[in-house]
Amino acid sequence: MTASIAQQIVLAARPTGGRAQLTDFRLEDVPMPVPQEGQVLLRVDYLSLDPYMRGRMNDARSYAKPVQIGEPMTGESVATVIESKDAALPAGAHVLVTAGWVSHAVADAKNLAALPADGIPARAYLGVLGMPGFTAYSGMAAIGKPKSGETVVVGAASGPVGSLVGQLAKLVGARVVGIAGGAKKCAYVVQQLGFDAAIDHRAPDFADQLANACPSGIDVYFENIGGAVWKAVLPLLNQYGRVPVCGLMAQTSGKNDGVDDGLATTMRAILTRSLTVRGYINYEFLAEYRQAFLKDVGGYLRDGKIKHQEDVTDGLANAPQAFLDMIDGRNFGKVLVRVGDEE
Ligand SMILES: NC(=O)c1ccc[n+]([C@@H]2O[C@H](COP(=O)([O-])OP(=O)(O)OC[C@H]3O[C@@H](n4cnc5c(N)ncnc54)[C@H](OP(=O)(O)O)[C@@H]3O)[C@@H](O)[C@H]2O)c1
Repeated sequence: MTASIAQQIVLAARPTGGRAQLTDFRLEDVPMPVPQEGQVLLRVDYLSLDPYMRGRMNDARSYAKPVQIGEPMTGESVATVIESKDAALPAGAHVLVTAGWVSHAVADAKNLAALPADGIPARAYLGVLGMPGFTAYSGMAAIGKPKSGETVVVGAASGPVGSLVGQLAKLVGARVVGIAGGAKKCAYVVQQLGFDAAIDHRAPDFADQLANACPSGIDVYFENIGGAVWKAVLPLLNQYGRVPVCGLMAQTSGKNDGVDDGLATTMRAILTRSLTVRGYINYEFLAEYRQAFLKDVGGYLRDGKIKHQEDVTDGLANAPQAFLDMIDGRNFGKVLVRVGDEE
């Protein structure tokens, strides 16, 4: 029997001073939603936590609308249909849904598709085979375009985006240098993911270590960080270097590493070295690359050619802490919250 109470986490306050905190979130009990004809009741199994959610907490102009105070935080999940009022999507089906930080949701069945029963755990469609994986794949295919023998550098290298960026570059024969926080992540990036080198961005001589690891300069810098990392990368970029600008964690984390943007230096480097710097949000490439992504990365995963790591927290109530930990780099792999039962 379905419980009568569901739970959700809402935005209680907008962060002030750059950094989000636990008091910006509130856990609420709400009545269990009831599906109407053509709808299904979903139990969220895994909620994905992603850096972009930090931007949605601000009331600022961006590529997507902010979450309003008192509204559930936005987010994608894998969920199980536990009650169906549409024969096309029966109880027991697993689906991908954007329902927010909630335990249960009602959705129109016609807007949902059952996830393939391909032997891959459904939660992989939130990580390596989901939005973060697609972000890595499309950014490299459309902008980075790595070639054999080139040097590719990527930050947040142990996370779902950075880890796939580097592994895709290795598969085409590039030299890959990852940037990550701390010895454990750096060891994982080299020993498990097969990158050629990894540099800890917290090391006092980080810029020198990066220069030593890139003796032929940098041809592709996949930008996930900004701040001090970008400052160290810029002088090393080769002529015709490509910079897919994917994310800016140094700003997202509210620290920016005490570095100013160095705009004049940046613009001069772009001009004199004919750099291609291109910002993007993954979904602009969906039509062009989604099928190729699922075929290529799904195939690499099944063939054991790429690895991925998940960092799972139990319980919706613990989502805010897991989210803040990710922003500060205390996650190790794709951050998921196990909300409902194991699939
Ligand atoms: N454009 C798009 O469509 C799109 C889509 C998805 C993701 N993104 C971006 O892709 C990037 C990676 O996302 P993800 O989901 O794979 O996250 P993730 O790597 O699991 O988590 C973010 C990581 O950023 C690193 N970080 C935080 N503050 C930092 C700082 N000041 N300096 C250096 N590193 C810092 C931390 O790793 P360390 O411990 O290694 O420092 C942290 O674990 C983010 O910038 C995100 O915004 C963009």
